[in-house]
This record gives sequence, C-alpha cells and structure tokens, in this order.
Amino acid sequence: MNRFESLLRYFPHPVLVLDAGCGDCDTAQQYRGQWEKSGIIGLDQDSDGLKRAFHREPSIHWLCADLTQLPFAPHPQFDLILARHPNVDGVPSTWARFFETVPTLLLPGGHLIVTTYSALESDKVRQWLAPAPNLFEIPIEGLPPSDLVGHDAWVRVYCRKP
Ligand SMILES: C[S@@+](CC[C@H](N)C(=O)[O-])C[C@H]1O[C@@H](n2cnc3c(N)ncnc32)[C@H](O)[C@@H]1O
Repeated sequence: MNRFESLLRYFPHPVLVLDAGCGDCDTAQQYRGQWEKSGIIGLDQDSDGLKRAFHREPSIHWLCADLTQLPFAPHPQFDLILARHPNVDGVPSTWARFFETVPTLLLPGGHLIVTTYSALESDKVRQWLAPAPNLFEIPIEGLPPSDLVGHDAWVRVYCRKP
C-alpha cells in the first residue's frame, strides 16, 4: 500500500468529500476503492484535466470551478476536504484564500488533509491555517515513505472543533 492509500485509511467513511484542486486526479480509483459509498466532489479549473479524471472514474462529481469563487454556499457541509499538492508557490493568493474558507466548509469534527512535495509549501499552509480558531492540527504517524517523485511527502491533517 502506498503512502496516499495508507493516509486515506485514517478516514474510512466520510460522507461527503471535496478534493480541492484535484487536477486530473490519478488517485481517483484509490478513493473509490477505499470510499465506496462516499459522495466525492473533485474540483479544479482545468477542464481538460477533469475530462481525464472523468474517464478514470465517472462515479465522482467532477466540477470545473474556481477555488476562490466556490459554486456552493460557504456553510459546513464536507466531512473531509483534501488539498493534495496545492501549487502554493505558483498561485499563493488563491490557496491562501481557499484555506481561509476551509473552516466554513468543514462540518464540526470534519478533517482537512493537505499534502505537499516540500517542507516549505507545507509550512506556508501551516501559517495560513494558524489563525483559524476552530481548527486544530492532529498528528498522523506511521505512514509509509513517499515515492521517488515525492508524492505526499509532507502531510498535515486538521480537525474542525466539534
Ligand atoms: C499541482 S496541481 C495538483 C493536482 C492534484 N491534486 C495532484 O495531486 O496531482 C494543483 C492544481 O490546482 C489547480 N488550481 C490552481 N488554482 C486553482 C483555482 N483558482 N481554482 C481551481 N483549481 C485551481 C490547478 O489547476 C491544478 O490542477
């Protein structure tokens, strides 16, 4: 089992998942494999990537939208939000704004998972999330090492206070 699959096992039965900036989601089948009954929304602004994602896994709702102008009301509704490899160096203001909205999107007790390729990116995300009074970080231990490309090398998990 790879690092990502192993991480998903901590969250066995989310009801509604948002994969923010999912790209073409080469992990779509890993989600479905572990979360057979979950509603999953993959959101990205890259329509070509979403088409490829749809061909991989048509049972997921692939949504072409801007992370800074979400097409659903900002009220708690997701019990898991995933931001895998957000390009925080490329478009920092986008991700800063998105992470600001996360507490309003997460249900009480819900989780946010952020994985990055580098410690610097991970630290930037930590700084953005630090002011959120209703989020706390939880440690995840014992994950297998990342692959040679460094997928999910740095992992942060937050929980919204109940
Ligand atoms: C580095 S890629 C990561 C893709 C995928 N999560 C992965 O791990 O392979 C970052 C993604 O964020 C998306 N993104 C960046 N800014 C966005 C925005 N304003 N709205 C929606 N998606 C955005 C990009 O289109 C891209 O697919």
